[in-house]
Amino acid sequence: MEKIIIALDGHAGCGKSTTAKAVAKELNYVFIDTGAMYRAVTHNFLTNEVDIADINDVNKALSKISLKFVLNPSTGIGEVHVNGQNVEPFIRNMEITSRVSDVAAIKEVRVFCVKEQQTMGKDKGIVMDGRDIGTVVFPNAELKVFMTADVKVRAKRRLKEMESKGVSTSLEDVIADIENRDHIDSTRKESPLKKADDAVVVDTSGLTIEEQVASILKLAKAKI
Ligand code: C5P
Repeated sequence: MEKIIIALDGHAGCGKSTTAKAVAKELNYVFIDTGAMYRAVTHNFLTNEVDIADINDVNKALSKISLKFVLNPSTGIGEVHVNGQNVEPFIRNMEITSRVSDVAAIKEVRVFCVKEQQTMGKDKGIVMDGRDIGTVVFPNAELKVFMTADVKVRAKRRLKEMESKGVSTSLEDVIADIENRDHIDSTRKESPLKKADDAVVVDTSGLTIEEQVASILKLAKAKI
């Protein structure tokens, strides 16, 4: 069977990663969470006190980063490692979440991450979720989906997910974060978040995860 590239883009917190993970599992494809890469770079910059306004500092820091996804055999999920360290436990907290969009808006950071993503997808058979996969990373992806949902629905889901991971926050803070990230992501100069002309829009406001997965699998199977 021919392997394809599935690009899943969309707004923050609409279930892209959860859906992409399940779709990849069903098709026996590789799942790549590109948001984890921008989060890992942000974690590295904060740890090393990189001044993001100083491009030389940014370039120096990027030149020292080696980023890999390593499969966790007990979950079957790829976890992001930076210079051999698994940073997955440190990249989902509110501090990283509130800073990541500013780091992801830097051209040099995007060039660095996009190059890695293109290498990871060169053999196809991947489901990659992010903001610019269908527009910049794989403009020729066989299937492009643009996911969106009402902001309150997204925030409630995100809050539940964070609470289940023991991260404490409030609905108001989650709404503010989602709106802020969507604004920065959609208005930045470099690869802004936007629907690719040939992407299929899936509004997940009224859908369960199972329904989201089923709708994308149906679209994928029509292409394979
Ligand atoms: O997907 P997730 O919410 O984890 O992404 C975190 C942030 O990383 C986004 O808000 C966005 O600023 C950035 N990002 C991006 N391009 C991607 C994936 C994520 O700019 N392809």
